[in-house]
Amino acid sequence: MVVTVWDGEANRVCRVGGVLGRFAPVKLHGNFEYTSDHTWVERSFPTQRALSYLWSGSDPAEYESALSGFMFSFGRLDDPRKRFDLEEPTDWTIEQMASSPIQMAFFTFLARTVGARRILEIGTFVGLGAMQLAAAVPADGLVVSVEKFPVFADIARRNVERNGLADRISILTGDLPSLVADGSVASGFDFVLLDGGKERYGEFLPICIDLLAPRGLIVMDNAFFLGDAVNEKPTTDKGRGVRASVEYARSRDDLDLSFVPFSDGILLIRRRGG
Ligand SMILES: C[S@@+](CC[C@H](N)C(=O)[O-])C[C@H]1O[C@@H](n2cnc3c(N)ncnc32)[C@H](O)[C@@H]1O
Repeated sequence: MVVTVWDGEANRVCRVGGVLGRFAPVKLHGNFEYTSDHTWVERSFPTQRALSYLWSGSDPAEYESALSGFMFSFGRLDDPRKRFDLEEPTDWTIEQMASSPIQMAFFTFLARTVGARRILEIGTFVGLGAMQLAAAVPADGLVVSVEKFPVFADIARRNVERNGLADRISILTGDLPSLVADGSVASGFDFVLLDGGKERYGEFLPICIDLLAPRGLIVMDNAFFLGDAVNEKPTTDKGRGVRASVEYARSRDDLDLSFVPFSDGILLIRRRGG
């Protein structure tokens, strides 16, 4: 196999089979060299040496912090506590449970790009995701957010109220299939964030697809589920649920799929031709 790549500057690196070919290999960061076996893997994740070898540090963990700082600074991101007057639960932090500012910037960007007017979120926690998504819909738009546990739903409602967003966000307590069956959640969503009930993703994803408006987009968070969904036989209920949902998505050839290898894995889903 012949692999020829540009090293990001003006140097060409070539490997033919296991032997370096007619172009002299360029000395890259440390002992880094592209190989025919790993090129796509190495070029998919920013912390891989292939995509970080020009960074001046050497510890990958430090590179992650540097990347985060870079994205916060140049992406104009901030701690959401500065933006919202936020009640938080005592047993979980927003750092543990809510989507990160980097994720939310991506999600709201996508929601704006599809011109979302109606957004559905599964998994509200304390309403932080819903409040950020509300900024992506027009004044007459709506974010419907479904939360299983009343303790979180109640905090979320108070957060929505104290931040003046009650006209644009509806928090529903309960179970998605029941809420659809009783008409509390009706179809026609331009954007769906599936981010709660991982053990039931296999059941929730087909429902979310049915709830989509014709050109709607589903963003499914935790698509790797901490690596367990990547196991052929996941070891946890949540891993099995997420695995079932990606298997289902793959089986539907009327869907466009795109994995974003960021955070715990994000799967973007839309109807082909929609
Ligand atoms: C990761 S948090 C959601 C974070 C939120 N989307 C945000 O960005 O701020 C997951 C939430 O889903 C909720 N949840 C768990 N199972 C659920 C289910 N079956 N239906 C709806 N919500 C569920 C959890 O209680 C938790 O609040």
